[in-house]
Amino acid sequence: MSCTLITGASSGIGKEFAREFARRGNDLVLVARSIEALRELAGELRGGGREIHVRAEDLSEPEGPGRIYEFCRENGIRIDLLVNCAGFGFAGRYDAMPPAVLQEMVQVNAASLAMMVRLFLPGMISRNAGGVINVSSLSGFQGVALIGLYSATKSFIITLTESLREELAGTKVKATVVCPGYVRTAFHERAGQEPGQSLLPISDARLVVRSAIRGLQKNRLLVFPTALDALLVFLQRILPRRFVLKTAALMAPLGNRDEVLRR
Ligand SMILES: NC(=O)c1ccc[n+]([C@@H]2O[C@H](COP(=O)([O-])OP(=O)(O)OC[C@H]3O[C@@H](n4cnc5c(N)ncnc54)[C@H](OP(=O)(O)O)[C@@H]3O)[C@@H](O)[C@H]2O)c1
Repeated sequence: MSCTLITGASSGIGKEFAREFARRGNDLVLVARSIEALRELAGELRGGGREIHVRAEDLSEPEGPGRIYEFCRENGIRIDLLVNCAGFGFAGRYDAMPPAVLQEMVQVNAASLAMMVRLFLPGMISRNAGGVINVSSLSGFQGVALIGLYSATKSFIITLTESLREELAGTKVKATVVCPGYVRTAFHERAGQEPGQSLLPISDARLVVRSAIRGLQKNRLLVFPTALDALLVFLQRILPRRFVLKTAALMAPLGNRDEVLRR
């Protein structure tokens, strides 16, 4: 059986990936911690002969990716498309960031994502088919004050995907990284960001998902869901770095800055 595995499928962008791939007839493995949310989504998506598996897993645990890989192996599930969407943010001064949150974020956003690719890519390469969609962010193109570690983990994802793509040249395996701006999901509330005052327009998760899938099909490395996202990254590359860093800090959807600074 060939299947699409989506991490972070219980909510937001990952949930929309699941809906979109189900619409396209793919079998799915849905991964996140919230098993009830996954089961509910699986119930919504089952039908038409599709197989939908759910797997509750905490990607802040270094062993999480290995357990997911074993789950697929034991159940004879062949993963041809991996969507790494699980991730979270934290808004506040870096010097006040709780060390436990720091470790959790590096593990979920960066280390577990890297391990998921490491585990599932060899099968794709040996079949000379398949692909990886990694979910990064516009914040991955420069350091963003008050969400510094988050933006660093998102840079990691872009850099990793760039190098993967070079290594995959000459194969039919694709690697794409989607870099949205500000998307309407539970993300900002969970990060304590109250994004109401953001200068960035708000995108819809479906737009992000559809542009990512289109990007993968066209074998694009970087995918920007909106023209503004692409323009901001273009400007980021040509404007003086100090200006870019100041502007990024102002544009980040942080909400009440005084409150964020008091953390
Ligand atoms: N929303 C935006 O503006 C925006 C912009 C750019 C990039 N992104 C990126 O898009 C991705 C999805 O975010 P979203 O906006 O859809 O936010 P969301 O609605 O909060 O979804 C985050 C997903 O990640 C999962 N997750 C978090 N911690 C996890 C853990 N320890 N183990 C397993 N799964 C975990 C959550 O599932 P459980 O809580 O059930 O575990 C949930 O399914 C993230 O990587 C985020 O960085 C978001």
